[in-house]
Amino acid sequence: MKLSKRTQAIKPAVTLALAAKAQALRAQGVDLVNFTAGEPDFDTPQRIKDAAVQALKKGMTKYTDVRGIEPLRAAVAEKYLKDYDLHYTKEEVLVSCGGKHALYNVLQAVIDPGDEVVIPTPYWVSYSDMTLLAGGIPRLVQTKEENGFRITPEELKAALTAKTRVFIINSPCNPTGAGYSRDDLLGLARVLERHDCLIFSDDIYEKIVYGGFRFHNITALQPSLRERTIIFNSVSKTYAMTGWRIGFAVGPAAIIATAGTIQSQSTSNATSIAQAAAVEALTGPQDDVVEMVREFQRRRDTIVGRLKAMPGLRCFEPQGAFYVFPNVRALFGKKGNGKTLATPSDVVEYLLEKARVLAVPGEDFGSIENIRITYATSLQEIEKGCDRIEAAIRKLE
Ligand SMILES: Cc1ncc(COP(=O)(O)O)c(C=O)c1O
Repeated sequence: MKLSKRTQAIKPAVTLALAAKAQALRAQGVDLVNFTAGEPDFDTPQRIKDAAVQALKKGMTKYTDVRGIEPLRAAVAEKYLKDYDLHYTKEEVLVSCGGKHALYNVLQAVIDPGDEVVIPTPYWVSYSDMTLLAGGIPRLVQTKEENGFRITPEELKAALTAKTRVFIINSPCNPTGAGYSRDDLLGLARVLERHDCLIFSDDIYEKIVYGGFRFHNITALQPSLRERTIIFNSVSKTYAMTGWRIGFAVGPAAIIATAGTIQSQSTSNATSIAQAAAVEALTGPQDDVVEMVREFQRRRDTIVGRLKAMPGLRCFEPQGAFYVFPNVRALFGKKGNGKTLATPSDVVEYLLEKARVLAVPGEDFGSIENIRITYATSLQEIEKGCDRIEAAIRKLE
């Protein structure tokens, strides 16, 4: 079968594929600890579900404005004003079918063949493939664990060239959980001020932060970047609404309008009822978010403590999101199940076979030394999974 050349360079999202594998194994009766999911295990708060039911009852079942219903675009603009004193009009907001779709649309809107997209690595799996699909070239810049997995101003400066069209920043980051402080962002902003590229700020985990860490948005800190920054966000992670598929892009009107045109020729609007639910998510009382984040923090503290205590693992303490990204290099060269471990994929496979624990190998995030473990699961499952990992590691020869 002849398929388009564009699709030859891309692969399915590994995280979704592994989550499906976990489901299939469980359906076969395997007692599996699933550490792959990229979504909160909590149910969507009742107030949000009620808003969807109301919308349904009111007959909100037709096409909406392609860009999103006016109250939702207004709620997004209001959120940025309230949270960061950033002024956006409704024309500067596009509602899409998830943050992923918003990113896809905007990349399609701004990338020409050969344009480069600078991506600090480890990175979220879709940045690179979405860039390729748009005809662009991903420029992966390895960050260092000793720098907290954050790209430094020097590393950024070295990566930017005349071909750079976009720089993507994701704080807190999936998969590392690394968050950029105010000073980190100001350092990067100083470099970006001198280089005329677009900045994509993927803020999807902005509310899921821990301890003393405070989230900042780069444009809010450096207003001179506003005209070339597009912010991406979504209700998926903050409000446990991954299945509702509502995300948004916020930025300069011309880019947002073009991304909207692309959307008008593909999906049209995001689901009408889900949009009504998202209005409630953003404008209603936020106590449910505070409660979820408190629980995530308890889990982070537990899992980081457990992993750090295991022989052969090094574990960076994340500032946000709900992933840990332990370094497993010290396990390479050891033998388990008759095979010598040499890569994160080998470690993941060994843990699946020996411990019935499923994690995500680092390779697809651009790391050859780490695996990703999601702690968006109960403390009981976390303890059980850690007991199993520890026992399996101790059996390595
Ligand atoms: C960093 C990052 N950006 C964007 C997304 C997209 O999420 P959604 O499309 O559900 O809004 C994800 C989801 O895993 C993510 O981790």
